[in-house]
Amino acid sequence: MGSTVGEEQLSEQMEQQPMPLLTPYKMGKFLLSHRIVLAPLTRQRSFGNVPQPHAILYYSQRASKGGLLIAEATGVSDTAQGYPHTPGIWTKEQVEAWKPIVDAVHEKGGVFFCQIWHVGRVSNYGYQPNGQAPISCTSKQLSPQVDANQINKLEFSPPRALVTEEIPLVVNDFRLAARNAIDAGFDGVEIHGAHGYLLDQFMKDSVNDRTDHYGGSLENRCRFALEIVEAVVKEIGADKVGIRLSPFASYCEAGDSNPEALGLYMAEALNKYNIVYAHFVEPRMVTVGEKAETPHSLLPMRKAFKGTFISAGGYTKEDGNKAIAEGATDLAVFGRLFLANPDLPRRFELNAPLNKYNRETFYIPDPVVGYTDYPFLSY
Ligand SMILES: Cc1cc2nc3c(=O)[nH]c(=O)nc-3n(C[C@H](O)[C@H](O)[C@H](O)COP(=O)(O)O)c2cc1C
Repeated sequence: MGSTVGEEQLSEQMEQQPMPLLTPYKMGKFLLSHRIVLAPLTRQRSFGNVPQPHAILYYSQRASKGGLLIAEATGVSDTAQGYPHTPGIWTKEQVEAWKPIVDAVHEKGGVFFCQIWHVGRVSNYGYQPNGQAPISCTSKQLSPQVDANQINKLEFSPPRALVTEEIPLVVNDFRLAARNAIDAGFDGVEIHGAHGYLLDQFMKDSVNDRTDHYGGSLENRCRFALEIVEAVVKEIGADKVGIRLSPFASYCEAGDSNPEALGLYMAEALNKYNIVYAHFVEPRMVTVGEKAETPHSLLPMRKAFKGTFISAGGYTKEDGNKAIAEGATDLAVFGRLFLANPDLPRRFELNAPLNKYNRETFYIPDPVVGYTDYPFLSY
């Protein structure tokens, strides 16, 4: 009997505690009112690589006061694309087009980072200026892949390995894109160093076969990513720079023989630049869409990195709360759940049921369907 009362009291106390995901957090100079972050989600609705007015509604639906949103992967140059209708941030027109979208998020009190991206060899002649070869660290071609919704088949052209002297030009494209993002009103940028795209191609030893000082040792393979971090930090300030990394993933045939060492090296090296956050994808995300049991953990990286630690991949409300309560992460990122539930923080707060996401509409070009038509709670 006595123990039953004790348990009841404990569970009452637990209920009275604020939910860890809904507790405030100071990320550098940004005062976040909760820990639920919108994942960068490519939506393939930016015709001609220009963000469209319908994105105003999409992002503002998901904005909340003091909530962090990360915009979909956004190309840094005319060689950066590898998918249909993805936005860019290298022209004046693109910068102007982002402004009302960023304004709408700010009007609702949101904090908005732009994910800046180069696909590298995850591309084909059709996406490249003058039908040229995609650029990479290597000339090894990627075999056909299925995209994150497991529906569309993607074909790639043989890439051209950048010569050493060209690498600073690509670093400079990231610098300019970061400047443009700030000019468009974004609060900061997230450098896309994950998922088998250009930075990850350099970092991972299954892809990088270079013999110059950007290949070979771990230090050499990470040089390109860190040069980008350094250039972007110098341009816009460390307090506005984050990076996303997925050392354990092998999407787009970019795997590493020692992902722990890679993740740890990057976490430690990033400390030197004082960037505001490091955003790691959980090792359980073996493919973009599915989680699996794994013996690996982000904890060594979490311990090594001195700034805000963000983690993503397969989070539910329960394990997001657990990760924050245990100190395994500072902020938890939600991708597909936030896509399908524009009012996700409120649903968590009210313990309300969630809408289900529909994979089939992840990447269609419709400005409404699968984009801004997921219902809000009616109460
Ligand atoms: C439709 C879709 C688009 C995505 N686009 C991006 C992207 O642009 N940049 C990126 O880093 N990850 C992207 N991802 C991966 C997500 O950010 C996230 O890491 C992944 O969905 C796992 O989180 P979740 O289980 O909460 O959905 C995408 C995933 C999906 C489903």
